[in-house]
Amino acid sequence: MKDDYKGISRFYDLLSSLYSIGAVRSCRDFLLNEVKPGMNVCFLGVGEGREAVKVSKMGAHLTVVDTSKSMLDKFQQKLDKVNLNHEADIYHGNVSEFYKNCIDHYDLVVGNFFLNVFPEHKMPEVLDGLLGLCGEEGKVVIGDFWNNRESSRLVQWLQHANWNVALTIFRLLADNPIHPIYVYDELLEKYGFKVMREKTFNVLGIPMYRSIVAEKFFKQ
Ligand SMILES: C[S@@+](CC[C@H](N)C(=O)[O-])C[C@H]1O[C@@H](n2cnc3c(N)ncnc32)[C@H](O)[C@@H]1O
Repeated sequence: MKDDYKGISRFYDLLSSLYSIGAVRSCRDFLLNEVKPGMNVCFLGVGEGREAVKVSKMGAHLTVVDTSKSMLDKFQQKLDKVNLNHEADIYHGNVSEFYKNCIDHYDLVVGNFFLNVFPEHKMPEVLDGLLGLCGEEGKVVIGDFWNNRESSRLVQWLQHANWNVALTIFRLLADNPIHPIYVYDELLEKYGFKVMREKTFNVLGIPMYRSIVAEKFFKQ
């Protein structure tokens, strides 16, 4: 399987932290507020999984999915380092295959900086699959670049500039597709989910990233 992140997996976390002056890390960590011991938590496109290891430390059971062997190796090293003897279910493969084969539902499904690796025509289908993994009382957490359409033109310009620089880097390094910043709220509503909590994360005072927690609108 092609590993688009092979060249950057060694410094991916460091690069994203330096680039955002720590805001991406804080955005990823927002999900920790939702974790309770014993939960089943699934990370799609887990990457190095720094925050997934924290979730394991908190006593939750982890399932992680990624196409990148090098990213999954980094994740496994991190998990081994904390020496918890906590096993994680690791799925090395494409998320669409995971959706087809998965029979479980999760208390928490996490897609941090994951949906933005898909082109515009594909992202809604991947989001739909992500939501389908969520149990009746479950939650989903999505962290990503943020474009607040209600903020001033200058702030929106800076948000787009921030996205475009990152997009160019990841286009060159990992062949990511070109598209605008995704805002998920309307799609989530269309699929029966509602944003219950959210937090934005600033770089030099400008909100550049947002993490949202969504739940099913109507629970059976
Ligand atoms: C931008 S990185 C985000 C990593 C991490 N979630 C984070 O918060 O930084 C995207 C990750 O998704 C993985 N990925 C890309 N396409 C995928 C697919 N079709 N199925 C599963 N994982 C995929 C990549 O290998 C990479 O680790």
